[in-house]
This record gives sequence, structure tokens and C-alpha cells, in this order.
Amino acid sequence: MNLPPRVKLVEVGPRDGLQNEKQAVPAAVKIELVQRLQAAGLKEIEVTSFVSPKWVPQMADNAEVMAGIARQSGVRYSVLTPNLQGFEAALKSKPDEIVVFGAASEAFSRKNINCSIAESIERFAPVVQAARAAGIYVRGAMSCSVGCPYEGEVAPERVGYLAGLMKGIGVQHVGIADTIGVGTPIKVQRAIEATLKHYDINDVSGHFHDTYGQALANTLISLQMGVWQFDTSIAGLGGCPYAKGATGNVASEDVVYLLHGMGIETGIDLDKLIDAGAFINDFLQRKSGSRVASALLNKRVNA
Ligand code: HMG
Ligand code: MG
Repeated sequence: MNLPPRVKLVEVGPRDGLQNEKQAVPAAVKIELVQRLQAAGLKEIEVTSFVSPKWVPQMADNAEVMAGIARQSGVRYSVLTPNLQGFEAALKSKPDEIVVFGAASEAFSRKNINCSIAESIERFAPVVQAARAAGIYVRGAMSCSVGCPYEGEVAPERVGYLAGLMKGIGVQHVGIADTIGVGTPIKVQRAIEATLKHYDINDVSGHFHDTYGQALANTLISLQMGVWQFDTSIAGLGGCPYAKGATGNVASEDVVYLLHGMGIETGIDLDKLIDAGAFINDFLQRKSGSRVASALLNKRVNA
């Protein structure tokens, strides 16, 4: 097996996780979470999104959260920007990286960002241009790369088509997202293969929600194909308000355990990561969505 020796995890809990919470999470809690995550060794954190507060009120405190983080050198802070309005607002918060987010399915594109795939690319183009001119790295999220809550199965050709459009406007890296967590390894492999027609393996990441419990298997097949960058979420928080029924992203703790168990380096301290997860679960009054965190917390209690 040809596995990468080192993997980079992008922690998306503060954004993908907390965008989906019904209860209000104060900015101070989000800031503390980000700080605990960086203390655990995460080198990239997706902090928030500059989207319409009418669409996603949970992220309305974006600027406050970005301003409150004590930034650590060597850590990159990314934010979602769906259009120029969001990008211009984000710029004031000095993100290291922005994420434009499109979909491989037309129906999801309309539900999530209120426009067609073609229109989304037209909107993203000036955002990408402005970001790159400002020296900000641009990532593209490709939602519904294996399945769509409205259209069902999504063909790999649709993923390849979107990846080609993203490449055409200068997006530097794409994330293959299983938004509703329905993918299984061979489907994920096909979505990756379609993406690799346009992007180098070093510019591709996996973003797997775990609704059907397949995310670790999907991570493993991606690793076997040489993918070494993954979005994961502390305590398995996450979901998208416009993808009903979708649960959280694969838990960061579970992926770190998987990787360390296979001798793959992450630079992350699993104990500190578990503490960060316990912090947010305490606030949300919830049990962890991470099997590894639950097991290790039990072990601590019984030690
Ligand atoms: P729209 O209504 O078509 O936008 O929404 P518009 O340009 O017609 O503007 C309408 C109003 O929104 C105006 O305000 C604008 O000022 C305001 P009004 O005049 O009515 O008071 N507006 C904004 N306000 C703040 N920031 C902005 C912004 N843009 C417009 N950037 C829009 C289009 C894209 C804005 C909207 O559909 C939206 O915000 N969607 C975001 C949905 C979202 O955040 N979804 C979750 C993130 S994606 C995700 O989770 C998937 C991912 O994890 C990968 C995966 O798992 O698949 C990344
Ligand atoms: Mg997501």
C-alpha cells in the first residue's frame, strides 16, 4: 500500500459544525474553540463564513470571531465567501485562505447559494481574481460530489465538469465533498479520478460527512489514491442547513486515530484534540459524535 507519510487536516468544526447548530453559540465560545484547536496542533482552521446572515444566522458574528482569535504563526485561517460582497467583508478580517463553494448538482446549487452552477462560476470568478491579487489562497468546495439530497446519485462526469470550471477561473485547490455522507469508497474513488483530470493530487482534498458511517472508509480509499489533505470536524459536528438529514463531518479525533494508527503523521496531539471536543460538547450539552473521543474519555474516567 502506498500511503502518504504525512497528512494535513483542515479543521472545519467552527464553520461546518457550528453553522448547523440550532442553539446560539456566542462568539466567545467559537473563539475559545479555535484556540483550543490550534493548541492541539491543527495548522489550518476554517473559522467562519461570510454569507448572508438571513440564510445562515449562525455565522453572522464572522468578523467578531475572526478578530477575537489570538493568531498563532504557522496556522492558516480560512473563511467561506460565496460572492464579492462576502469576499469584501472577509478581506477586513485578513483570512489566509478563502473558500468558494459550488456544487456538482444543479438542484443543490440553487438551494444552497440561490443560483445555477454556471451562475455560481460567474460569481466566483471576480472573487478568485481579487483574492489571488491580494495574495490569498483560493480553495473551492465541490458539494454533492457523490450524491445530492434533491437529485440522488451524482455522476463522476458532473464532478469533473465542476472541477474543470473551478480550474478555469483560477481556483487553486478543490475539495471533493460528500455533503450528505452517502458515498461509498468506489464512488468516492470515481469522483477523485474525475477531479484528477483537472487538478494535481496535491491540490485535492476530501470532505466527507459521516451520515451513513462511511466517512472513514472513504478517507482510507482517498489515502490509498494519494490524497493527503482532508477536512474534518471536531466531535463530528457539522451539516449543511440546505442539505436536510445530513449529519456531521467525519470527526477529527477519529481521523487522527486512524492516521496515527497507520503510522501517518499529523502533528496533532490527540489528547488535546479530545479536550477541545469535550469543551464544545460541554457547551452544546451533547455527547461526542466521535467514537474515538467517547472511547478515550471513558478510559480516562476508568483510569
Ligand atoms: P441571494 O439572496 O441570492 O443574494 O443569496 P443577493 O445577492 O440577491 O442578496 C440578497 C441579500 O443578501 C441582500 O441583502 C444582500 O446584501 C445580502 P438585503 O438587501 O436583502 O438586506 N447578501 C449578503 N450579506 C452578507 N454576506 C454576503 C451576502 N451576499 C448577499 N456574502 C447567497 C445568495 C449566496 C448570499 C445566499 O444564498 C447565501 O448566503 N448562501 C449561503 C449558504 C451557506 O452558507 N450554506 C452553508 C455553507 S456550504 C456547505 O456547508 C457545504 C460545504 O461544507 C461542503 C459540503 O459539505 O458540501 C462547504
Ligand atoms: Mg460540509
